[in-house]
Amino acid sequence: MTEVIKADGLAKTYRIGFFRKRVEALRSATFTVRENEIFGLIGPNGAGKTTTIKILTGLVAADRGSATLLGRPIGEPLARKNLGYLPEGPYFYDHLTVPELLDFHGTLCGMSKAERRKRADELIERVGLSHARDRPIRKFSKGMRQRAGLASALLHRPKLVILDEPQSGLDPIGRAEITRLIRELKDEGSSVFFASHILHDVERVCDRVAVMIQGRVVDVGRLDQLLETKVLEIEIVTEGVAEEHRAELEATGMTWHAASPGAPVRLSGTDPVAAQAALALVVRRGGAIRRYQEHHEHLEDLFVRRATEGT
Ligand SMILES: Nc1ncnc2c1ncn2[C@@H]1O[C@H](COP(=O)(O)OP(=O)(O)OP(=O)(O)O)[C@@H](O)[C@H]1O
Ligand SMILES: [Mg+2]
Repeated sequence: MTEVIKADGLAKTYRIGFFRKRVEALRSATFTVRENEIFGLIGPNGAGKTTTIKILTGLVAADRGSATLLGRPIGEPLARKNLGYLPEGPYFYDHLTVPELLDFHGTLCGMSKAERRKRADELIERVGLSHARDRPIRKFSKGMRQRAGLASALLHRPKLVILDEPQSGLDPIGRAEITRLIRELKDEGSSVFFASHILHDVERVCDRVAVMIQGRVVDVGRLDQLLETKVLEIEIVTEGVAEEHRAELEATGMTWHAASPGAPVRLSGTDPVAAQAALALVVRRGGAIRRYQEHHEHLEDLFVRRATEGT
């Protein structure tokens, strides 16, 4: 099998309040996640990411469209057998400790006692909760709850892991650990589908992404293909360039920024030819180049570009 998730035109409208006001949570979600891929679903708050995940995991029924999970229609229990799921803001029986939670979950999955214990110990270590084994989950911080949820999602060695904002509530160290864990899951042969706002982490770990804006998947693809390769801004930081050369330098098409007299002058622009001319001129006038930097589009820029186009 090459596709672990196939979503085709998924749509969902909620009706709220006495007047049954319509909220179009999801208008059209079409994408496929391939086997052994790390796939990110990104989009602004309220874009429909959690709704998509709830449909895929069978918590909510779609109004339109269809989807398969590991080759089976989403309604079938078998589709979910090999699925690990971390919900947004996971809820637990929070009087339990993590070993108790995992033991309970393992029992529901039909794991033997020895297997449950071995796997729970391994996962508690892996998500960094060894120090909190004896503490009830209600005394956990937000990030610790997130880690407990992750251990629970991975317990039965699922082939497909669906995570709703796995990095939410985690500090930078915790986020790096989760990123590493997601990579390890891929190395072990699993496929990972996750929704996230932490674009830096998405950029580092995902093979492909889908961008969702106002209930629609507007882009799907590899990041290097989605991101525009054109230069957004060129920045040159110079030293030893006198104010008297300002007009001459600005004539190249670059903009002059000086914090204070004598401070390093920063030149900015978007045209590479203008930047080359400015570089040569700085050197000719006895100045030095401290830094030359081209800013290309990052996932964050794509995200903002698509979000503003979509409105
Ligand atoms: N149970 C519900 N009843 C009514 N409206 C809902 C329900 N769940 C979600 N919505 C609405 O559907 C839209 C999409 O919500 P969803 O939770 O899928 O967004 P999201 O992309 O996960 O956002 P976030 O990044 O904030 O988690 C929002 O406008 C939300 O208010
Ligand atoms: Mg959400």
